Parts: sequence; structure tokens; C-alpha cells
Amino acid sequence: MLVILKRGSGEIDEQAAQILAGAIKKKPALTLGLATGGTMVGVYENLVRLHKTGSVDFSQVVTFNLYEYLGLPASHPQSFRHFTQKHFFRHVNVQPGNIHIPDGSIRGNYEQYCESYEQAICAAGGIDLQLLGIGRNGHIGFNEPTSSLASRTRLKVLSRETLDDNAKFFGTGEEAPQCAITMGIGTILKARKILLLATGASKAAAIVKSIEGPVTSAVSASALQLHPDVTFLLDAPAASRLTQREYYERVLKMTALLTPDRLS
Ligand code: GLP
Repeated sequence: MLVILKRGSGEIDEQAAQILAGAIKKKPALTLGLATGGTMVGVYENLVRLHKTGSVDFSQVVTFNLYEYLGLPASHPQSFRHFTQKHFFRHVNVQPGNIHIPDGSIRGNYEQYCESYEQAICAAGGIDLQLLGIGRNGHIGFNEPTSSLASRTRLKVLSRETLDDNAKFFGTGEEAPQCAITMGIGTILKARKILLLATGASKAAAIVKSIEGPVTSAVSASALQLHPDVTFLLDAPAASRLTQREYYERVLKMTALLTPDRLS
């Protein structure tokens, strides 16, 4: 596990975009797992900028979004399809046929649908690089606390905390979705490389539990401790409760010296 500490979110956005662009340069047909949420907006802005200046070409990249709300049409402004379209896809050259996002409008046969999403990931050769944010309760994707650490893509009921966090995005009187179709923790752990970003003090408790706490289904992101190639990219407020910051900084320096490839 690599923990990269940055001062502010601007530096995180830039470095995350550099890591993603670097991975695409190394493997133009990269399979990329995409995340959404406020933390990701600046990352996509940077990626779009790199694309517009000719530094990254998405023409062969295949994408899989982590989740979608159940019951929202794709056109709904709060759907994650809409988010990714608005902040990323419409500005770059990912081929529409290479974009995969769970369909929030399906009714019934959820298991079969979710299995087909897993199969599509397999058929694409598995996810090379998975981008992640983190919920205040330590969830990754929409894998709420107590999700099985072996879970695969499935229907998940959202926790009260997540519903409260997301309520502000829906209009008064509008019913916010209670469920999502999300990749499971087991799905995420199969990605070859994982990059988790967290900014702001509201994520500090989740971050310290994920990195320094025990592996537990009570904090989904703690399962990342089981992954051989995960990088946490954190700003100072999100990292503020980590007890081994000095060690992480030394590890980073030595990594840059001895195995710089690990950082790109
Ligand atoms: C949602 C998503 C998470 C995301 C989290 C944090 O609940 N399911 O994947 O990481 O929110 O979002 P933000 O980046 O807006 O803090």
C-alpha cells in the first residue's frame, strides 16, 4: 500500500490525472474503472485538459462505472451516467461502445443483470486501474458497512448516512433513490491497480480506519489492505488522523528512488 500525502485537493486532482494518463500511455487499451462524486470533478477536469493538449488519447480505453442509482433514468441530472457524461465523456474521445455503466432503469432479474455486468468486465480482460472515492462511513462504490468483502456486482440498499449525504442533490419533495447497483468489494479487489482519493476533514475518520484499522466489513475500504497494488492519494485534512504519516512519507521517497514505476 502506498499513501501519498498532498497539501490540497488541487494537487490531488493533478496527480490522479497524471497517474491515469500515464497508465493509458503505457497501455492505450486500458480498462478503467470510473468513480463519481465531488472528489472526482477536478480529476476529470485535469484529464480533459490533458486530452485537449494532446497528452492523452482515450480512443481505445474501455470504461466501467462503479455504480448507478436504481430507479433513476439515465437522463436524470443526479444519475451517475449523467455525471460522467457531463464531466468526462462529452469532452474526450472514449468510444460510446466502450462505455459501461450499470443501468439504473432495469426492473426485476437484478441478479442476472448484475452477473452480466461482471461478465462484461471479464470479457474486457478485467479492470486494469480502478479509481475510487470514499464515503464518510468508509464505503467504496456503494458497498455500505457490513457488505461482504467478497461481494460482486449487486443491488445494494443505501445506508442512512449515505442517504443523508446525498439528499442535498435532490429537489425538495423529490424522492431520492434508496438503492444502487454497485460493483462489489470482491469486484473492486480484482482490479490490477487501485487508486483511492480522499479530500477534506469529513473523510479523516474513514481514512484512518481504512489504512490503519483492522480489515472489517464495518469499513469497506479497509478491504483494500488485502490488495497488492493500492495507492491512497490524500489531502492534509483527510490524512489528519493517520498516526504514521512520517513513515508513509519515507516510503514514498524510497519508492521514488528504488521503484519509480510503482508511482506512475
Ligand atoms: C458516494 C459514492 C462514493 C463516493 C462518495 C464520496 O456515496 N457512492 O463512491 O466516493 O459518495 O463522494 P464525494 O466525493 O462527493 O465526497
